[in-house]
Amino acid sequence: MAATPALAATMAMKGTLTALALAVLLGGCGASSDESEHPGRAVYLRYCFSCHQAGVAGAPKLGDQEAWRPRLAQGREMLLDNVKRGMAPGMPPRGACPSCDDETLAVAVDYMVVNAQ
Ligand code: HEC
Repeated sequence: MAATPALAATMAMKGTLTALALAVLLGGCGASSDESEHPGRAVYLRYCFSCHQAGVAGAPKLGDQEAWRPRLAQGREMLLDNVKRGMAPGMPPRGACPSCDDETLAVAVDYMVVNAQ
C-alpha cells in the first residue's frame, strides 16, 4: 500500500488547515465561527446596540430601511462625520465609544449601512 502514507499525510494537512482556518475565524470574529458575519457586528453589539436596536431617543434602528434612507443619501463621509462629532442630543460623539478609532467606527457604520439596504 504505497499510497497510504501519502493519503495520511494529505489528511493530516487538511486537518491542520481546518484548524488554522477556525483559529483565524475565531480570532477575527470574537466568539462566532460564522464566516459570513460582518466585522462591524461585534462593535455594533458592544457600543451601538443599546440605542440602535430599539430606536432609543429617535436612533435609526438597525435594519429599518425607511429610517436609514435619508441618512444614507447624505453619503458615507457625512455619516462618519456625524458619528465622530455626535448629533445632539441623542447620538453621543463616537457612538459613546471614546476608545474606538475612526476605522473601528467606520466598520460599525458599514455594518449598519449593510443592514439598511
Ligand atoms: C445613546 C444612544 C446611542 C448610541 C450608544 C449610539 N447611537 Fe447612533 N444615533 C443615536 C441617535 C438618537 C441618532 C439620531 C440622531 C439624530 O438624527 O439627531 C443616531 C444616529 C446615528 C447615525 C446616523 C447619522 C446621520 O448622519 O444621520 C449613525 C451612522 C450612527 N448613529 C451610528 C452609531 C454607531 C456606529 C454607534 C456605536 C459605535 C452608535 N451610533 C451609538 C443614538 C445612539
